Amino acid sequence: MDYDVVVIGAGPAGYVAAIRAAQLGLKTACIEKGKLGGTCLNVGCIPSKALLHSSELFWKLSHEYADNGIDVKGARFDLSLMMQRKEGIVRGFNAGIEGLFKKNKVTWISGQARLASPTSIDVDGKSISARYIILATGSEPIALPFLKFDEKQVLSSTGALMLEKVPKRLIVIGAGVIGVELGSVYRRLGSEVVFIEFLDRICPAFDGALSSGLQKCLSAQGMEFYLSHRVMSADLSGSGVSLMAQGPSSQMQFKGDAVLVAIGRRPFTKNLQLEAAGVQCDEKGRIVVDASFRTNVKTIFAIGDVVDGPMLAHKASEEGVAVAELIANHRPVVDYASIASVAYTYPEVAAVGFTEEELKAKGISYRVGQFPFKANSRARCNGEDEGFVKVLAQHGSNRLLGVHILGAHASELIAEGAFAIRMRASAEDLADTCHAHPTLSESLKEAALAAVKAAIHM
Ligand code: NAI
Repeated sequence: MDYDVVVIGAGPAGYVAAIRAAQLGLKTACIEKGKLGGTCLNVGCIPSKALLHSSELFWKLSHEYADNGIDVKGARFDLSLMMQRKEGIVRGFNAGIEGLFKKNKVTWISGQARLASPTSIDVDGKSISARYIILATGSEPIALPFLKFDEKQVLSSTGALMLEKVPKRLIVIGAGVIGVELGSVYRRLGSEVVFIEFLDRICPAFDGALSSGLQKCLSAQGMEFYLSHRVMSADLSGSGVSLMAQGPSSQMQFKGDAVLVAIGRRPFTKNLQLEAAGVQCDEKGRIVVDASFRTNVKTIFAIGDVVDGPMLAHKASEEGVAVAELIANHRPVVDYASIASVAYTYPEVAAVGFTEEELKAKGISYRVGQFPFKANSRARCNGEDEGFVKVLAQHGSNRLLGVHILGAHASELIAEGAFAIRMRASAEDLADTCHAHPTLSESLKEAALAAVKAAIHM
């Protein structure tokens, strides 16, 4: 055999699995046809956060600085410089992963991998054998049949990260995480942004209170939402985009310069030749694995977006570490209950554990504690007092079941909730923990207090 382990795909699932496998003494290669880092680094989490940061600075200049006595009239931005900054950050991390591969003695094989058998892979005509193969080929954006991506007028998340011009009017189909993040970027840079969402709420995976709270905040920033609307057809023959959507009672026409289609992603297994090794997928195209990430072929494993579960980079990386450790006969744990999810809007949304809707559906009785950032001194000092923390605790035991945050820096604050849930902590544990003053994190303590006793500052 050429290798102990060959990983296909160098996204947050694959490159992490390769590094961990090599750390454990396994002779490891990672095959990647594109740049190292996968969707997350090249066309996902990282470039979007870079643009979210730049655009937030610009938005704050014109909307918040004056309140602080700072006069910055006439501020302008240069989109191409923003894009260059973003590219620089991405390139830096591309090189960073290459450096980590070298340091850990992972061989990077550049090329398109196709399974040839349960233990061999064809890479652009060259055969490579391995005791174990890990499939980590990620996901791709879903298109609408009548709106094929051209990345100029009809954008996927990839194209929306590379625009040369800010669209005057941007239509976003799907008000999920990608839609609200990229819609926010262009709204802050001056676009009129209109969302057409199929369901009756935005970001449907979040607790209902977060969805409605976020929608209010984004509406106040000038974004428009058409909920319970399904796009039926598109006309691209004119200079812009024209869409017809069916609402609850009537049809509506939407016109824009560009449309971003952000209706979800699907597992990416094209050209992998799964059938050559006999690897099975489910009806949604996800590779079927057991609790040890093993496919129906015992030498082949799969992790990340290509298998069931939330399509999150940090979930994928946890699985990457775990699968490498399993192959090395360790006993790793992935605690899916404590995986947080975040939307990097302004304010941010972050959540871990069950939503109130899920607890109701499961018939679990619970207590709710909520605390608004308006009553938090640090949030008031920062001028970032929109939103709240909501804690859900099991009735009786007070065990923490969910922590939900709408507010500035929620993406950082949620780590405490994730750790608490990971440690099977109770709302009292959170409430009894002394939090530094004045900090935003005091709101978690206060929300936990509200669940079990009473908040002090409310
Ligand atoms: P999503 O599943 O979060 O949202 C898609 C939205 O589109 C849903 O609200 C859905 O109801 C709506 N929709 C579906 N079909 C529609 C149609 N025909 N017309 C109108 N609306 C329609 O998917 P999204 O935003 O594309 O993200 C894909 C994946 O990437 C998600 O799993 C997400 O968690 C992940 N992601 C995570 C990020 C983060 O952690 N911050 C950032 C970006 C993506």
